This record gives sequence, structure tokens and C-alpha cells, in this order.
Amino acid sequence: MALSVIILAAGKGTRMKSDLPKVLHTLANKPIVEHIIDTVKSIDCDSINLVYGHGGDLLKSALSNHQLNWCLQAEQLGTGHAVMQAESFVGDADDVLILVGDAPLISKQTLEQLVAVKQSCDLALLTVNLDDPTGMGRIVRDQSNGDNIVEIVEHKDATDTQRLITEINTGMMIMSGQDLKRWLGKLSNSNAQNEYYLTDVIAMAASEGKRIQSAQPNWQKEVEGINNRKQLAALERAYQLKIADELMEQGVRLADPARIDVRGQLTVGKDVSVDINAVFEGTVVLGNNVSIGPNCVLKDCEIGDGTNIEAFSHIEQAKTQANCQIGPYARLRPGSDLSAGVKVGNFVEIKKANIGKGSKVNHLSYIGDAQIGEAVNIGAGTITCNYDGVNKFKTNIQDGVFIGSNSSLVAPVTIEKGATVGAGSTITKAVAADNLAIARGKQRNISNWQKPSKK
Ligand code: UD1
Ligand code: CA
Repeated sequence: MALSVIILAAGKGTRMKSDLPKVLHTLANKPIVEHIIDTVKSIDCDSINLVYGHGGDLLKSALSNHQLNWCLQAEQLGTGHAVMQAESFVGDADDVLILVGDAPLISKQTLEQLVAVKQSCDLALLTVNLDDPTGMGRIVRDQSNGDNIVEIVEHKDATDTQRLITEINTGMMIMSGQDLKRWLGKLSNSNAQNEYYLTDVIAMAASEGKRIQSAQPNWQKEVEGINNRKQLAALERAYQLKIADELMEQGVRLADPARIDVRGQLTVGKDVSVDINAVFEGTVVLGNNVSIGPNCVLKDCEIGDGTNIEAFSHIEQAKTQANCQIGPYARLRPGSDLSAGVKVGNFVEIKKANIGKGSKVNHLSYIGDAQIGEAVNIGAGTITCNYDGVNKFKTNIQDGVFIGSNSSLVAPVTIEKGATVGAGSTITKAVAADNLAIARGKQRNISNWQKPSKK
């Protein structure tokens, strides 16, 4: 049997007070609705139908790498009306799983449970018990008849007694395409909000004698919808704390589980240690015994075993082998590739450069578009002048070279094996192996110099 998913995401999200459609606001750097799409893709589903209302162009470009049926709900006349917009994409024999677009943490396991419950009944609802159910649709069960679900009543339409019910509708449910279409055809908007309520199909199912059952999420946060910035921030924190828990389960030492942010996929080896305020983005892989100092940002990078990254370092699309020493205040930009035992110290920027085993760039340097051999020492303040304002050129520094402090290496240029560059040099020509190159003004000392006096 095919499984069709309908995601309801046409709501304007007025309370976000933003020009961006609500579902494009991000949690852990990923649009809210994309969390749901990715989770849906992880279960065995055949089509995803997205009901949208606002910012269609923005949505389509943000979600362009997903295969979706786009269902415009031009006017938001209620959740039932929203589902109608996707009706034509749904086969009668399909199971149709309806999800809300603003609850990003729904999990694969919970969706699978809901789908499994549907196998033994006609309509399955995801429900949850809340201490404060205010505003939510209440699940009405018939106590005289085996606690069967008989209807969902919206808060605004509920009686005082019904408002005491704490079991609520999460908005997520599954039924057959045939049933859904028949019931949608009968919806009316004669209720407190003059909306076409999807929830009215529950009473229709009950009156046809259908079996209605429920499933519950593993974690309450999974069904929390986001309506404003406060809820978004709260859910972000809940999500981050969960990731922190999982990392600690895997043996990571976190200085403070409340002060780590993972916005993507973080893979860790054994005995990794992460100090406060680390931000991980994209795909980050940390080897065994890696240590990350406070306030580091690591994005799409791979850090080798035993590497130590000290405070305030920024690493993006870079790679280190084992036992490198980075920072504090180092910046590894895209294309930085560091061999084992490399040291990159404070206020050093590296871009598109391979640095060979055991080489050191310890202080205040810019190394870009460079090939650096093994056991090279780059003195403080050395700059590879890689750019003439139009084109980029390469600097080639071979094994065992020593570059004196405050040197400029004007690319394209090669410093051959074992050569030395005297401090303060501006190197514009190749330096042969084992030569000393000095390119700086000669020093003159003037004796008996008369210092200026105050006038
Ligand atoms: C709905 C349910 C309520 C449930 C609650 C859970 C109905 C009538 N009520 O309440 O029982 O407890 O969700 O959060 O279904 N949407 C559209 N088009 C519309 C209206 C809504 O796409 O015309 C989308 C929204 O973008 C949102 C979802 O449907 O993703 C739920 O809408 P929302 O207005 O938040 O829910 P309620 O109607 O308050
Ligand atoms: Ca509403």
C-alpha cells in the first residue's frame, strides 16, 4: 500500500512578526519544514504533498532539492480546507499521513508507530496529554464504549466539561485516501472560527462505525508547534540538549551540555572533549582524543585524532590529520589541509593550502594558495601575497624551509628545500635549495645622532 504524506504549512505565522514564511524559520540552521520533510523521507513514503500559502517562491527555492507536490492554499480557510488542496495527488488506496508543518521535532520512530497503529484500525491519531491543553483540540472518548474516540472538539467550540480533557490532538493523523476524500466532501465551516476543520472527520468516522485508535509520541517536544520566536528558541534549546545528551551517551566530555550547538551532523570518536560555546555546522567529524576549546566554530570539517583546537578558532571546509595544534584564535578557511603534527597558532589565517607534516605557522600570518612541505617553519607575520587584484597565484615552499619573520612571499614563487629567508624580506624570485635569501633594505647606523628637542 502506498503512503502519501500531506504537510500543512499554509499558515501565515503572523506571530513570528517576520517577512519570512513561518516554516522557513530555522531550527539548528535548517528550515522548520525541512526537518519534517527529512524525517518523512526516512520512513517508507511514496509522495510528499506540501500545502503552502505564503512565500511560494521563497519556499520553492529553499526546498528545491526535495521532490514535493506543491499544493497552493491561496486562502487559509482551515486545516480541512488545507488538506483539500492536496486531495488530487492522493490515491484512494493510499494511506494518507497528515502532518503539521510547524512541529519540526517529530521523529521517525513516532511516525512509524502511528503508521503501524493504522494497520489495525481505520483512522489513527497522534495524541498527547498536556498539563495545560488550552487552545488545543480535545480528544473526546466514549467511556461507556471501551474508551473509543468519538470526536475532536476544538477549544473554542468546547464545553466547560470538554475543556477539562487533557488529551489533545497534535494535528497528525492517518487514514485511507478513500475515507479522507469522502469525509472532506462533507466538511462545513459552521463553527466558532468559521473554518473547515480537519478534525471534524473524526466524528464522521465514528458515526460510520470506523475504528479510531491513537498513538503517542516518545517525547512531548516532537509534537510542539512553533508560533512565535519564544517557542522557536525554546524548541531549539530542547533539541540541542537532546543532542548534548546523545553525545555524552557516546562518551563525549561536554564542559556544559547547555552550551553546545550542533547545526548539522556531528560524528565523534572516543574521548572527545568539548569546552563551552562550541558551534558545529554542516558535517563535522572529530577523531579520537580531539579537544575543542571554548568558543570555537567548526563547519564542514574533519579533525584528526589527538588534535587540539584552542579557544576562539574558526574552521571551515578544512581537514587536519592527527595531533595538530590549532589556535587559540586560528582561522582555517576552505581548502586548508593539514598533515600530522602541524601547528597553527594565534591570528593565523590559512586558505587553500596543504601544510606538510610537523610544519609550523605559529603567529600572525596569512597563508593562501600554498603548498608547504614537511618540517617548515613560517616566521611570525609572514604573508603569502597570492592576489594581484585580478588573479590568484601559488606559493610553493618545500621541505625544511625556514621563513624569517615578517616576510612577504610574492606569488607565484618557489622556495626550494632547506632554503632560508631572512626576516623582513620581500621575496619575488625563486630561492634555490639551501640558499639564504635576504631582500630588505640594508641597515645604516649614523653615529652621534642629535635627537630633536622640544620647541
Ligand atoms: C489544529 C487542530 C487542533 C490541534 C492543533 C495542534 C484543527 C481544526 N485543529 O489547531 O485540534 O490541537 O492543530 O496544533 O485542525 N494550516 C493550513 N491552512 C489553514 C489552517 C492551518 O495549512 O487554513 C496549517 C498551519 O500552517 C499549521 C497547521 O495547519 O501548520 C495547524 O494549524 P494551526 O492554526 O496552528 O492549528 P489550529 O487550527 O489552532
Ligand atoms: Ca487556526
